[in-house]
Amino acid sequence: MTVQAKLHELQRRNALAEEAGGAARRERQHREGKLSARERVELLLDEGTFEETDRFVTHRCTDFGMEAQKVPGDGFITGHGRIHGRVVFVFAQDFTVFGGSLSETNAAKIIKLMDMAMRVGAPILGLNDSGGARIQEGVVSLAGYADIFLRNTLASGVVPQISAIMGPCAGGAVYSPAITDFTLMVDKTSYMFVTGPDVIKTVTHEEVTKEQLGGATTHNETSGVAHLMAHDDAECLAMMRELLTFLPSNNLEDPPRKPTQDPVDRADSELDTLVPEAANQPYDIKDVVHHIVDDGYFFEIHEHYARNIVVGFARMNGRSVGIVANQPAFLAGVLDINASVKAARFVRFCDAFNIPLITLEDVPGFLPGTQQEHGGIIRHGAKLLYAYAEATVPKLTVITRKAYGGAYCVMSSKHIRTDLNLAWPTAEIAVMGPEGAVNIVYKRELDQVAQQAQAVWPSGRPFTEEDKMKILAEARTEKVEEFRERFANPYVAAERGYVDAVIRPSETRRHLIRALEMLDTKRDKNPPKKHGNIPL
Ligand code: HXC
Repeated sequence: MTVQAKLHELQRRNALAEEAGGAARRERQHREGKLSARERVELLLDEGTFEETDRFVTHRCTDFGMEAQKVPGDGFITGHGRIHGRVVFVFAQDFTVFGGSLSETNAAKIIKLMDMAMRVGAPILGLNDSGGARIQEGVVSLAGYADIFLRNTLASGVVPQISAIMGPCAGGAVYSPAITDFTLMVDKTSYMFVTGPDVIKTVTHEEVTKEQLGGATTHNETSGVAHLMAHDDAECLAMMRELLTFLPSNNLEDPPRKPTQDPVDRADSELDTLVPEAANQPYDIKDVVHHIVDDGYFFEIHEHYARNIVVGFARMNGRSVGIVANQPAFLAGVLDINASVKAARFVRFCDAFNIPLITLEDVPGFLPGTQQEHGGIIRHGAKLLYAYAEATVPKLTVITRKAYGGAYCVMSSKHIRTDLNLAWPTAEIAVMGPEGAVNIVYKRELDQVAQQAQAVWPSGRPFTEEDKMKILAEARTEKVEEFRERFANPYVAAERGYVDAVIRPSETRRHLIRALEMLDTKRDKNPPKKHGNIPL
């Protein structure tokens, strides 16, 4: 063969790889509002940086007439490139080739890529659009998934792993993303389920649409499986690029810094009046976040799930920080099962990747009730406690209003190794809210007040239930005020050093940034062990 012929052969093979599942299937993809796998990779990476590997790998299946259906690359595009100048590894499943399903050989492509990403310490980004294990291959395909799951697990906490779900994904195509750090979904074109509606109908006779079962809204709002939701493929890929700007490439690096013009000592007088006078009146904790962080910019994670707690990334004088904040505007900011799990996972991610944690606390406690107790609030709430206690990154807390009961301990209290605990003058730190506390502590005394009132009640008019309630209400109000004066303030904690400083809300940004600068050289570790046993 001449050199010219050899060049032609390369060109022919390249064309076949790019043709993939053919024009008709590609058109279906576009008709459904989805990009092709190649278009996605190009859009995700910095222009012209993609270096493809294993483009000519084919499957080895000989059953079901598969020998005649070989596509170079076998429906998976793998390689490396750059995002904002930093190296990343990426794979994209091509739904036009056997529905993006996983074969023995394209599993090997992914494994190779993951191993390399681990060696060089760079993020692994998966663009998923796959019907899961390739049915025709049987156990070798399952083995391929298990090999990937192992790598997902080994890479966890070493390099960031981010999954975009960009089509109907089933089986292994959802379990691998589930082990990764963040899952993004595209609204109306992406689905995640262990098994699809057809199988469900056969097994349980339940009729459910793809959207209801595993659409982007379902997983962002109800199950919490997904962390971010995009309107289309382009927005999804842009989100992935942005998310990476807050993260280091691996666990041995610090996140990149982004210079800002926002002054360190910017005082924000609106914060001084943001917390309402009435203890039960809601306000939006995201307003506090926006007032404090660089340029008011907050990249929220899990925005639609367990909205009683808010988590996400922001920057303080250019440094990435993870924000965890109770949300008084939703369920009074109470900690329930979902909120605990959501925040625990976020805290652990930040700790694994050297991202300092800022906690904004306004929490009335854990949500009481049989539903929560039977659902295991004890076990799930303990996850958050464990995650905070275990974390060794710089930890800063600002109590804006309520810090009641167990939630006080959990939300990055001084006692679980938090470096700086600040309180606004509006902070209330107590075992429980004054109303609840008075009912318990002064129960006997209040009963006596009612009895005494009845004993000295002037004759002439009967002592009615209404009279009793009125007297009791007055006595209760007095006790509540007394209790509030005594406990519902930051000073008892400040006198003991559980709170390091009581600050003017308007000066929060300056205090936090100075603390982060001081903590830049923080070195803290946990005792040597194989691993802890977080209450899963
Ligand atoms: C081989 C597959 C495939 C698969 C889809 N295709 N899934 N080929 N193996 N797993 C092929 C189809 O035959 C079809 O080929 C093309 O991909 C497009 O599929 P459609 O069904 O036409 O697309 P759509 O209607 O959009 O439905 C997509 C889907 C559905 C919801 C993903 O195809 C589906 O339910 N597939 C099976 C899902 C599944 O149960 N996978 C196994 C999971 S078990 P043509 O030639 O017509 O284009 C698993 C184990 C992992 O993954 C272990 C977990 C712990």
